[in-house]
Parts: sequence; structure tokens; C-alpha cells
Amino acid sequence: MKRLLSGIKPSGDLNIGGYGGALHQFVKMQHEYECYFFVPDLHAVTVPQDPKELHQRSRDIAAFYMAAGIDPGKAVIFLQSQVPAHTELGWLLETQAHFGELGRMTQFKDKAEGKDTVSSALFTYPVLMAADILLYQATHVPVGDDQKQHLELTRDLAERFNRRFGDTFTLPEPVIQDIGSRIMGLDDPSKKMSKSNPNKGSYVLLLDSPDEIRKKFSRAVTDSDMQIRYDWEQKPAVSNLIEIYSVFSGEDIPVIEKRYEGQGYGTFKKELAEVVIEKLTPIQEKYREIVHSSELDQILKDGAERATAAAERTLTKVKQAMGFVTF
Ligand code: TYM
Repeated sequence: MKRLLSGIKPSGDLNIGGYGGALHQFVKMQHEYECYFFVPDLHAVTVPQDPKELHQRSRDIAAFYMAAGIDPGKAVIFLQSQVPAHTELGWLLETQAHFGELGRMTQFKDKAEGKDTVSSALFTYPVLMAADILLYQATHVPVGDDQKQHLELTRDLAERFNRRFGDTFTLPEPVIQDIGSRIMGLDDPSKKMSKSNPNKGSYVLLLDSPDEIRKKFSRAVTDSDMQIRYDWEQKPAVSNLIEIYSVFSGEDIPVIEKRYEGQGYGTFKKELAEVVIEKLTPIQEKYREIVHSSELDQILKDGAERATAAAERTLTKVKQAMGFVTF
């Protein structure tokens, strides 16, 4: 059976990068897989979080899953911290992970750079991520390009464990789509669009108003000539905007290039903003209906129960394989 698991950290407001690389894929893939969509709140606290904000953002992510179109009747939607098996398997897998391989994780190096102190949880973060995936025996994990290395580590740990203790874990495949898996900043196409960028104009949030969206796209950097052409080597800024257009309109890139042939950046950027607004407006409306509802609480409670049942099966298998006494 094909089983999918993925999640978006509640560590900042959701932007269209997370939408392109993850949420948009979740919605498209949900009908073909048995799905687990979770909120990795334990991953968020590897860097300092304000407790009130963490609380709100965790609900926000779950509400966005549903607002974007994930059906809670089919998919299991839950909060990571509600299923203790994640931390337990995380610990057990840490015994199999090597200090050196964790030190080579580029996300760790980026996040640790220039900091006086970093938490040890930030260092072991990818092992917890491996536990998230392996607990559910996920076959497919849709992620953006920046998570590729973590998925490789997950596969390495699963293989290492299986070799040493017998066949226990399914090896997961990353699902990284060609378009939208690497959405770059609107101010600089060499840097990933990220909510941690202090320049607010560099990203579009899922909750931005139509005027904010128009303003941000109108100020987005473009390349030197005037052509609307998809070419990451020569024209990274415009290529990034074309990818965003494609994700939000569902249209193929050649169709978009053809439509804007001979037109200036101004028209293209204006229409791009409208395409994004048209997609986000109904998502924002649904999000507002859901986020403070008791229905959301119920979905998360049910989700935690269903997730716990699946996770406990794997955890027991792991403990038995490693020689722990189980009853
Ligand atoms: P996070 O919360 O940073 O990002 C959530 C998802 O969005 C993708 N993404 C992007 N895709 C394209 N362009 C961008 N600019 C962009 N920014 C973010 C990410 O690749 C990711 O797929 N470690 C994970 C969370 C996690 C997880 C897991 C994911 C924890 N356990 C298990 C999958 C399975 C993270 O920090 O993603």
C-alpha cells in the first residue's frame, strides 16, 4: 500500500514557498495514498519559540491543511507533540545515527552559522524527522528540495537499522516535484523564500492581503533584459516568478511563456499577483472559519488517536527487534 507522510513546521507564518513545495502537493496527492499530515511542533522548538505564538501557529498549520483542501475524513491530521512515539523512536534512532553525518547536514550548518549557542536538539533534528517518517512506514514523502538531504539520511538510518536488527522499516521515497520545489526570495533569486528573512518583501505569506500581494510582486526583482522566458541560468528572477505563476494557475510553463511573449514585466507581475490572490482568497476564507473552531480540536484529537495506533505498532516492533522487554 502507498502511504504518504509529510508536515510543515509551525515556526513562522506560512509562505508561498511552503505552499509550492509542500501543501499544494499534499492536496494533489491525497487521493492516491493513505495520508498522514502532521504539524511538527517538536521540530519548531529546536530554535527559540514564543509559547503563545507556537500555540497559535500550530493551529494555523492544521487549519491551512484543511483550508487548502485536505479532507480530514480521509487523511490523518495531527500534532506531533500529541503522539509520544515520535520522541521515543527519535531517541532509539539516535543510537544508530553518527555524529559526523549529522554534522554534515546543510540545514544544520545554515541555522547554526553565526550563532553563539545552538540547542543540541537542532543538531539531532534530522533523526526526529526520520522517526516521524519511519514510524508510519511511509512509502512517499512529498517535500521541497531543501529536505532532500534529510530524506537521504532517513533512508540511511532505516537501512542501517534493518541490516543490524532485521527488516523493520520501509524505505521512503522523497517526492520532489519539478516545479515549485524551490521557490526563491522575491528580492534575491539565489536565496530560498523563507519566513526567517528579515526583509518582509522577500516572501508572500498565505495570509497576506490582496494589496500586500500586489505590492510585493510589483517590487520583485527581475532580470536585465525584458523577456519573460523560463531559464534558470540566464534569468533566475523571472524563472522563479514563472514557477510561482505555474503553481498557482496550474498552467504549464510553455503556456505561460507564450502568453507573455513580447510583453513587459509590469503586465506579467500584475497578472501574477492576481493569479496568486485568486487562489489564496478562498483558502484564507476557509482558514478563518476553521482556525478557532471546536471542529479543528476534534479533528486533531481524532488524528492523534489514529496516528498513535499506527505509530505504536512500529514502535513495539522496533523495541522487540532491539531487545527491550515488551508485554
Ligand atoms: P519546513 O517547515 O521548513 O517546510 C515545510 C515544507 O515546505 C517546503 N518549503 C519549500 N518548498 C519550496 N520552496 C520554498 N521556498 C520552501 N520553503 C519550505 C519544505 O521543503 C518542506 O517540505 N523538516 C521539515 C518538517 C518536517 C518533515 C518531517 C517534513 C519534520 N518532520 C517529516 C516531512 C516529513 C521542515 O522543516 O520543513
